[in-house]
Amino acid sequence: MTELEYLGHSAFVLRHEKEVVLIDPFLDGNPSAPPSAKDIRPTLILVTHGHSDHSGDAAEISQRCGCLVLATFEVGNRLEEMGASIISGHIGGEFLFPFGKVKLFPAVHSSSFDDVHNVGVPCSFLIEMGGRILFHAGDTALFGDMALIGEEAVIDVAMLPVGGTYTMGLKDAVRAMRLLGAKRLVPMHYGTFEAIALDVEEIRKGCANAPFHLSVMRPGERLEVR
Ligand code: NI
Ligand code: MN
Repeated sequence: MTELEYLGHSAFVLRHEKEVVLIDPFLDGNPSAPPSAKDIRPTLILVTHGHSDHSGDAAEISQRCGCLVLATFEVGNRLEEMGASIISGHIGGEFLFPFGKVKLFPAVHSSSFDDVHNVGVPCSFLIEMGGRILFHAGDTALFGDMALIGEEAVIDVAMLPVGGTYTMGLKDAVRAMRLLGAKRLVPMHYGTFEAIALDVEEIRKGCANAPFHLSVMRPGERLEVR
């Protein structure tokens, strides 16, 4: 069984057997992180870009749990300086793990750390885990090459930002779902802060006639990926 847990904002945990993959750990200082987030002991961390609402706890957790972090080259190097153990790679690279594989694709956004500007480039992750396919878009605008990601595999679950302002909003996320050909949308990167406020009812309305399933997850909620 492959299971997805939402930790608020863009943070998720993917579980399959003994593998625990933590994506974009922003737990400390994340007003939407559930209490369960503190107990997670990942076997792998994926970080889409340097912004602290994505990379925030990666170095500390990597150090504490002794797990590797996969990110784009310069983002990984910066996390290594902060104490993380990293897998060196970049966009286009595909990495094999006991649970399946992870491939890095582009995202249209930027990447900085609080203390250093312009560190590397952002990415998105196409993840095969236990035979299921998941896509985590990171922070991104809509872009046409999402269609190429959709050609790569039939995506069971796409985690897409919908909050607008810093990323695509809901309308563009619905268009992204068409390009990706994904079966299920899990919205993320909304509601955490005033600037990305979005009502759950608005999300439901915006997806009402869309040709995909919608799972609005509450922080701490789990979803079996089918
Ligand atoms: Ni960002
Ligand atoms: Mn962000």
